[in-house]
This record gives sequence, structure tokens and C-alpha cells, in this order.
Amino acid sequence: MKEVINPAMVPQRTLYTGDTIPCIGMGTFGSDRFTPEQISNAVAGAIEAGYRLFDCAACYGNEAQIGEVFDAAFRKGTVKREELFITTKVWNDMHGQGDVLLSCAKSLRDLKLDYVDLFFVHWPFPNYHAPGCDGDSRNPDSKPFSVDEFMTTWRQCERLVDMGLTRFIGMSNMTIPKLNAVLPLCRIKPVAIEMELHLCFQQPELFRYCVDRDILPIGFCPIGSPRRPDRDRSPEDINDIEVPEVAAIAKAHNVHPAVICLKWAAQRGQVPIPFAVYEEKYVSNLRCVTEDPLTEEEMAIMETVDKNNRLIKGQVFLWPGAKSWEDLWDLDGTITR
Ligand SMILES: NC(=O)c1ccc[n+]([C@@H]2O[C@H](COP(=O)([O-])OP(=O)(O)OC[C@H]3O[C@@H](n4cnc5c(N)ncnc54)[C@H](OP(=O)(O)O)[C@@H]3O)[C@@H](O)[C@H]2O)c1
Repeated sequence: MKEVINPAMVPQRTLYTGDTIPCIGMGTFGSDRFTPEQISNAVAGAIEAGYRLFDCAACYGNEAQIGEVFDAAFRKGTVKREELFITTKVWNDMHGQGDVLLSCAKSLRDLKLDYVDLFFVHWPFPNYHAPGCDGDSRNPDSKPFSVDEFMTTWRQCERLVDMGLTRFIGMSNMTIPKLNAVLPLCRIKPVAIEMELHLCFQQPELFRYCVDRDILPIGFCPIGSPRRPDRDRSPEDINDIEVPEVAAIAKAHNVHPAVICLKWAAQRGQVPIPFAVYEEKYVSNLRCVTEDPLTEEEMAIMETVDKNNRLIKGQVFLWPGAKSWEDLWDLDGTITR
């Protein structure tokens, strides 16, 4: 029989608005390896297993199939709409005046929803690259970050809130210099920033920056994305689930190292959104936040395994004249243009 985790047992995080969000969710990007049907089947199974948070995006190419699953779950009475927390994101080719509304309308139509819970700006650049392209591809029309361009997009996101099409808005793949530039201009502050967060890439400064401003960090690639596409692989990357300290703690808890990554993430205070299509994996990923927490000593050890190893470097978004992927991440503390 299918294992069900009572959603009431899953800890919740509180947004600055006072509303709550589960402390863990399910990602829906299949890393170019799974069909939309395989992913939507996993979403169906995950709803039954007790997941209530799903991280979707227009560019994942599977919102229509996932929408069928949401619709079926509501009709069947497995879950009510208001019990789910559903995110989506505007892709880089739909920034700016008007297009954000179109993007949201399409996602709502595909997801078969009247509203989403959280609408993200997926990347802070209007730089399109084709889904599934290789890591060397570049778009000659790409541009560096512009506060004005970003705020035009953000104003449209604020309108989505006004129109009741999303409850909350958020940003993704941001840096502290970019946030310093745009947060004072926001009429509606982001409730969350989605960012790469895993044991070997803990981003302590950006994490603290968000927490200090009552903005929730949502962590993508929480297991270190061991099956990510080739374009997101570099020879120097470290595999989180093979780090000796992680493996040792996993052995002590008698679980897969992936589960230790997620326990650490949830206990630290970010919301991890692991992806898995296999039932045994997605069930254990949800169950792990309801039992057998890491000790303080284990949490302290986990803090020491950080290797500042960014996996999703984003080089396909670089603009003509940019030197390397590091230009996307403002490493010298100023916005790279
Ligand atoms: N905002 C953004 O720009 C952005 C960027 C990247 C990702 N995301 C979001 O973050 C989500 C998660 O990222 P991700 O999928 O790249 O990485 P991830 O969640 O760190 O890794 C997923 C992989 O981990 C393995 N796994 C999952 N649970 C496991 C378990 N219990 N035991 C062993 N292995 C397990 C699975 O491998 P198998 O497939 O072999 O089972 C799966 O493919 C995405 O789906 C997406 O929603 C957002």
C-alpha cells in the first residue's frame, strides 16, 4: 500500500505576510531526462503521498500535464485547491511590459488554475536560450542586468497580485548587489527568493541577507542535482551525496545521503524542493522532515562541508562582451555590466 505522510505533520514556514508554506516541496524540472507524463505522474503520486508544495515553471515544458493532475486531484477530492501551494515562473523571453501577464495567463491555463500561490521571475535577465541547448550556446541579443528592465518586469508581477492571479511574488537567481538595487523600489516585496542551495553551496551571505529581511529562501538543487543536464556540469563540481561527512551521517541515520541533504536544508530554515519521479524516493524525501532530525553536532558538521560549488552557473545567459559565468553572480560586490 502507498505510504501517506499526513501533511499536518510537515512543519510549515511563515512568510512575512503571516501566511504559511510547507517546509519542503517537490521540484518539477526533469533535467531533460523525463517526459512530461512521467513528471506529472510523480506529481499525482506526490499529492497522494502528502506533498502540498509544487515548484513549477513555464520553461519546464510540463505545466499542461501537471495541470491535468491538479484538476483530477481537485475533482476526486484528494485535495482542495487552497491546500496546495503552487509556484510558477516567467521565463527569460517573456520579461517586460505585458508579456509577464501573458506568461502568467498561459501558466494558469496550462495548470488549470484560477491563481497560483507564488509567481517568480525565473532569472533576472531577459536573455533567452532554447530549452535543451548545449552549454556553449549564446544568444547575441543577450544583455547584462538592468535595474530599469527588471523593475518593468517586477511592476507586472505586482499587477498580478493586484489582479488576484497570484497570491505572492518572488525572484530567483538573484545576488545581494541586485537585491540591494531593486528591493527599495518594490511596491510589493518578494516573499521568497529561489536560489541554488545545497550542502556544497550554502550561500551563507545571501541566505542570511534574505532571512534578515524576512524573505524566505527556497533552495533548488537541494541534493546537488546529481542527474543534471550536461550543460550544467563542470569537471571541478563536487557531488554532495558523495561527500564523506554526508555519507557518514547518512549511515548513522540509516538513510540515503540525499535524505541527509534535505534534513539539513529544512532544519537550517530554507525550503528545499527536491525532484524525484520514483515513489520510494519522493516519499522518503517528504517523510524525512517529519522524523529523526539531525543533531546539533551533525548540523555543525554539515556547515563545514560547504565548498562554494555553484552547479547552475548560467553561462548560456551571458551577453556579448561578458567574460565568464562569474559575471552573472556579481562576485566583486557590484552589479557586473
Ligand atoms: N529557479 C531555478 O532557476 C531552478 C533551477 C534548477 C532547479 N530548480 C527547481 O529545483 C528542483 C530541484 O532541482 P534538481 O532537480 O536540479 O536537483 P535535486 O532535487 O538536487 O536532485 C534531483 C535528483 O536527485 C535524485 N534523488 C531525489 N531524491 C532522492 C533520494 N531520496 N535518494 C536518492 N536520490 C534521490 C534523483 O535522481 P533519479 O532521477 O536518478 O531518481 C533526482 O533526479 C527542480 O526540479 C526545479 O523545480 C529551479
